[in-house]
Amino acid sequence: MSILEVKGITKAFGGVKALDDVSVKVEENTLMGIIGPNGSGKTTLVNTITGFVRPDHGSVVFKGKDVIGLTPYRITNMGIGRAFQMVKPFFHLPAYKNIVVPLASPRVRASSGGRFGDKDAVALDVLEEVGFERDSSVPYKAASVLPHGYLKRLELARLLALKSEIFILDELFSGLSIAEVTSIIPIIEKILLDGKTVIMVEHRLKELFRIADKVIVLNYGKKIKEGPPKEILEDEEVKKAYLGVEV
Ligand SMILES: Nc1ncnc2c1ncn2[C@@H]1O[C@H](COP(=O)(O)OP(=O)(O)OP(=O)(O)O)[C@@H](O)[C@H]1O
Ligand SMILES: [Mg+2]
Repeated sequence: MSILEVKGITKAFGGVKALDDVSVKVEENTLMGIIGPNGSGKTTLVNTITGFVRPDHGSVVFKGKDVIGLTPYRITNMGIGRAFQMVKPFFHLPAYKNIVVPLASPRVRASSGGRFGDKDAVALDVLEEVGFERDSSVPYKAASVLPHGYLKRLELARLLALKSEIFILDELFSGLSIAEVTSIIPIIEKILLDGKTVIMVEHRLKELFRIADKVIVLNYGKKIKEGPPKEILEDEEVKKAYLGVEV
């Protein structure tokens, strides 16, 4: 069953068509990758799904409900969680307090029946899930002093805390070492095992293709290809769009 259906989305910024009639169905409990050269519309598509950008045409249907026109806050509370390409933590707050914030959201309060025990302790549990060493000082450090790898993990922790149904990860792997990516992949696999749906925008194709069920390719705002990773790898048009990039 499709948990999310994007239908005929078009969005222009001045003369630039960032998205041109893009449609895609995302099946529940699968991982869909979105790839494409720089400026091909990937983040704009994520922004449209999550309410940050209002498209000129088209609809985005999440579990049967059109979310176009709803605020990002509402959409997040419905269960679509989004990690930012440019991480946006509360820099002055300790890492674990960054996770207390989503734990206090209406969505989580509703799902825990109003009683959630100690939010700080839950936040530390969630951070441990994404690789913050519990008995170290790292969870207590201000986000502003955390290394990049931890800030990316913090984005993931925020979506876990929100009990998101769809995790949309915009370039989660960017700036991470192979070792860091390798350690994050099992966390994503666990999210899938828990029945969630994952959408990943990625330039790290090798790693993405290992875990994706299907991939869509954007080029100049158009969806030029959709299919399982193996088909995408062998597609001539995709190779051309990625000219100079090793697939
Ligand atoms: N708010 C905006 N105002 C004007 N133009 C924009 C805006 N957002 C995106 N664009 C333009 O739309 C096009 C698509 O941008 P988008 O950020 O979606 O690309 P992307 O595929 O995510 O690229 P990258 O791989 O570099 O992150 C680009 O030409 C970009 O300059
Ligand atoms: Mg982008």
